[in-house]
Amino acid sequence: MARNRDHRAKPAGTRRWLSALIATATGAATLMIPSTAHADPLADHASSQGFEIGAALAVDHLNNDSQFANLAATEFNASTAENTMKWESVQPSQGNFDWSGADQYIDFARNNGHAIRGHTLVWHSQLPSWVSNGNFSSSELTNVMENHIDAVAGRYSNDVKYWDVANEIFLGDGSWRQSVFYQTIGEDFVAQALRAANEADPDAKLYLNDYSIDGINAKSDAYYNLAQDLLAQGVPLDGIGLQAHLINGQVPGDMQQNIQRFVDLGLEVAITELDVRIDMPASDSELQQQAQDYREVFNNCLAVSGCVGVTVWGITDQYSWVPDTFDGQGAPLLFDNNYNPKPAYDAVHDVLDSGTNPDDTQAPTTPGQPSASNVGANSVDLSWSPSSDNVGVTEYAVYSGGSQVATTSSTSTTVTGLNPNTQYTFQVQASDAAGNTSSLSPGVTVTTEDGSTPPPTGDCEVSYNAANEWNNGFTGNIEITPGSSVSGWELQFDFPNGQQLTNGWSGDWSQSGSTVTVTNAPWNGNLAAGQSVSVGFNASHNGTNDEPSSFSLNGESCTVS
Ligand code: XIL
Repeated sequence: MARNRDHRAKPAGTRRWLSALIATATGAATLMIPSTAHADPLADHASSQGFEIGAALAVDHLNNDSQFANLAATEFNASTAENTMKWESVQPSQGNFDWSGADQYIDFARNNGHAIRGHTLVWHSQLPSWVSNGNFSSSELTNVMENHIDAVAGRYSNDVKYWDVANEIFLGDGSWRQSVFYQTIGEDFVAQALRAANEADPDAKLYLNDYSIDGINAKSDAYYNLAQDLLAQGVPLDGIGLQAHLINGQVPGDMQQNIQRFVDLGLEVAITELDVRIDMPASDSELQQQAQDYREVFNNCLAVSGCVGVTVWGITDQYSWVPDTFDGQGAPLLFDNNYNPKPAYDAVHDVLDSGTNPDDTQAPTTPGQPSASNVGANSVDLSWSPSSDNVGVTEYAVYSGGSQVATTSSTSTTVTGLNPNTQYTFQVQASDAAGNTSSLSPGVTVTTEDGSTPPPTGDCEVSYNAANEWNNGFTGNIEITPGSSVSGWELQFDFPNGQQLTNGWSGDWSQSGSTVTVTNAPWNGNLAAGQSVSVGFNASHNGTNDEPSSFSLNGESCTVS
């Protein structure tokens, strides 16, 4: 790890762990597993800053593996039932509820003071076939869904703090997943489910939860848009759960921004199912990378005040769902198969312990080359691809000619105060909370527009008449009267019937498509308010010769008299 540890402040994670492995009072050689694994567990540091660190808990392991149960109780101040509160577990056939597993989990979590995340009420997966293949009508399925929500959320309304009300409703491209709920009820099933959960447990915070929405992408955009719609309709939605089932080395660089944008909607965010999977076997350097990734995810959440906590999807690699689900991958959690804390554990401990990482020395990666748009005479819009950083990027600075010309926490900005008709090269530099800065990005070079904007014309007036019409030709006369003084003018109008300019006088004439532009001659550009100038032209027509209906002078429309 690039970071310098402060060994005075606390022992490293492994030593914390070993020092807690104490012999029994009789001095027997057997190593007892202590009931509190660490002198200063993650939960203590999280709780002291009002942050939640959770774990997914399987009831089997709570019942049969004391190491698992001990760590669940001591290292975490929050939890989620890994499976036992899912639909197939609690209502395996219609109207028959089996609360055995869910009750055991809830008792354990309540007894250990955990913030409980109920998982999950409406999901296409681990859904019994009596629901998915029940051939219900829309109103029947709404009833089935509402009954289920009412029973489950109602039963645990004193205990559950957050509910993952609907899980995984969108696909990667942001389209709706074709679940039985969507296909039968339509997208309103989400609002129905949220309203039903709110009735059953008015105090719970109600979430939508999904994977691959950790950064800004089509799928998280779909949640962003849906959340806006639901909030606008007054539907009780409180938060978005980012599952964060991640691949080693692939924490999205814009994760913090993504969290922030949901918080800016008035929602809260939680990281609900964090794991970081590695191609097996995991090397030391991969485990170090994993530690960085955990550090980054925690920092991304801690950096946004509306991000309430991080839940890891299991405790020990030994029981993780990853090897069963992702071929050849594993080792995604904080403890290895033998419950040894991994570098990732130390990293999380470090982040929760020291908060802001003042001794972080790792610089963010170099931002992408900016792209420029809307180049004006005095401003330009720039955007670039984000940097990533072990503790999270806090700011981007835009430089031109050695001076800083803008700063922003997002990946786009408008640079203002530029001179017209001037060439500029812009580069971007990222910095993190500890002040480490990236290299400068490659530059983008732009030339600002010519700044000569025509003066305003006040309430201009135009009169137009076609004189001397002959077969297919005519002469046009136009009188132009600006309402305020101008020095230089440009008149534009459209011929309505395909008329074609042949020549003009008292101005500089041109035609492009149907649009005619005439600018002042050198001698008639300066006009006082109310002073008129007359210009004329010859043009051809095809038999119809209607007058142009509107005229603009220096970009402002004129009344036609
Ligand atoms: C997983 C569990 O970890 C496994 O034990 C189970 O076999 C399948 O489900 N997204 C979710 C979780 O919302 O409920 C899933 O949990 C993992 C993906």
